[in-house]
Amino acid sequence: MAVVSGKSSLFYSVPAKNASVPSLSIALILLLVAEGLEAESVDDGRNQLFAGILRDEAVERINQLAKISDADGYLERTFLSSASVKAAQLIIEWMRDAGLRTWVDQMGNVHGRSEALNTTAETLLIGSHADTVVDAGKFDGSLGIICAISALKVLKTNGKLHKLSRPVEVIAFSDEEGVRFQSTFLGSAAIAGQLPASALRTSDKNGATIQDVLKENSFEGSDASLLQVKYDPESVWGYIEVHIEQGPVLESLGSPLGIVKGIAGQTRLKVKVSGSQGHAGTVPMLMRQDSMVAAAELIVNLESLCKYPDRALTYKEQCGSYKKESFSGLVCTVGEISSWPGASNVIPGQVNFTVDIRAMDDDDRGAIVTEFSRQVYQICDNRMVNCTIEHKHTAEAVHCDSELSQQLKQAAHSTVKKMSRKIQDEVPVLMSGAGHDAMAMSHLTKVGMLFVRCRGGVSHSPDEYVSDNDVWAAGLVLLHFLDQHVSGDCMSS
Ligand SMILES: *[C@@H]1O[C@H](CO)[C@@H](O)[C@H](O)[C@H]1NC(C)=O
Ligand SMILES: *[C@@H]1O[C@H](CO)[C@@H](O)[C@H](O)[C@H]1NC(C)=O
Ligand SMILES: *[C@@H]1O[C@H](CO)[C@@H](O)[C@H](O)[C@H]1NC(C)=O
Repeated sequence: MAVVSGKSSLFYSVPAKNASVPSLSIALILLLVAEGLEAESVDDGRNQLFAGILRDEAVERINQLAKISDADGYLERTFLSSASVKAAQLIIEWMRDAGLRTWVDQMGNVHGRSEALNTTAETLLIGSHADTVVDAGKFDGSLGIICAISALKVLKTNGKLHKLSRPVEVIAFSDEEGVRFQSTFLGSAAIAGQLPASALRTSDKNGATIQDVLKENSFEGSDASLLQVKYDPESVWGYIEVHIEQGPVLESLGSPLGIVKGIAGQTRLKVKVSGSQGHAGTVPMLMRQDSMVAAAELIVNLESLCKYPDRALTYKEQCGSYKKESFSGLVCTVGEISSWPGASNVIPGQVNFTVDIRAMDDDDRGAIVTEFSRQVYQICDNRMVNCTIEHKHTAEAVHCDSELSQQLKQAAHSTVKKMSRKIQDEVPVLMSGAGHDAMAMSHLTKVGMLFVRCRGGVSHSPDEYVSDNDVWAAGLVLLHFLDQHVSGDCMSS
């Protein structure tokens, strides 16, 4: 129990003074507890680390949540699916266990709240999403929800929950991944007042609209009920989110935790290519209007555009100002493609594919989208196929609040210091290429994010892995962060 070491480059342990005189310090704690003093007021590293709640129970809960799936053999929980409803019930139980008052709003978001002595103070929101991608990992989203609940449970356990200087609310968002309705952030966007009523008419693969799905689950599903979900910016102090990095940077730096400077903006397109369907054996090569080959050329072109954006864009005089160092974080992906009729002996008549373009700078991203569109129409023209480009989703880049980031950084720094024997470097600061609920929440309030390292940078995969000790570290950061919002006069007596 005393010394825990991992395979990772960071070794956790309690301070050496405790390890050397365990019986004395245990006796001391018992004595102090017997005298009615709070154990954590003693300068004793071990008692501030709360491994039972922040590590062991949190890890167990992450595993428990990962078993709730709509699919057999892999993890999938989409907006208001039956697994999502079950997961919400479990999250509600855990929130109550942490002493929080719970409710579910009209978009299926689960809330757990603790009030403050000061009834006019603005609320600190902490959240992440409860939905998953298809064949998901178990930490994406869940980690942030469970760490937050665990940190508040520690406050309840040590009697600080009712001494909060501002209300604290944990939110488990109902949709971030957008798998079911092809649109991200349904839950957090509704709370931030960013979801238009027209979105309720979006339908899934089976033709069910968001409105239908809400009604099936006994929500109102009306324009008015959507408005009820929105929070008043005046009532909110800030939003923080813990999330796995989903990339390899923290691991490569040997750091369990990182502070997020900002989140890349993104554009999602759907490209439709219509050619001339025909017999694979009879139409000569020079007489084809093959939608599949056209799509292939478009995709390869997109890759080189995003690998060497300066080449493509400096050819054009008006864009001559682009420098090599621009396009920071630019990444482009075609992840979904379908063809009709999809038979080996038929020249495809139609191909649809998706495009995902992300960059830190919104102007850079805009320039890439414009250039890609130009290339699409040119290539399709040359190949005599008809192409259309549909804009499915746009999100501007988000810059995290410097004060919140500084507070998170301090909390992360003291966490790493307490858990590690080594003198730590600065807590790394990085950008996020992945979108998060914090993007939507930034329209409501200032936001801050903490990243937790994951093995090999792997995410959106069953191989996604965060070590038990890193889960613990994440919970401790939130606990230290929350400590800054506990009334000071309660600490000493
Ligand atoms: C209560 O919160 C309000 C709003 O943030 C603040 O102006 C006021 O100073 C707080 N009162 C106390 C006693 O902290
Ligand atoms: C492209 O669209 C034009 C105008 O709608 C149509 O006449 C033509 O047949 C289409 N070509 C293909 C290959 O679908
Ligand atoms: C492409 O998308 C359109 C709707 O935008 C759909 O009608 C068509 O069936 C799709 N084609 C393929 C091959 O998936």
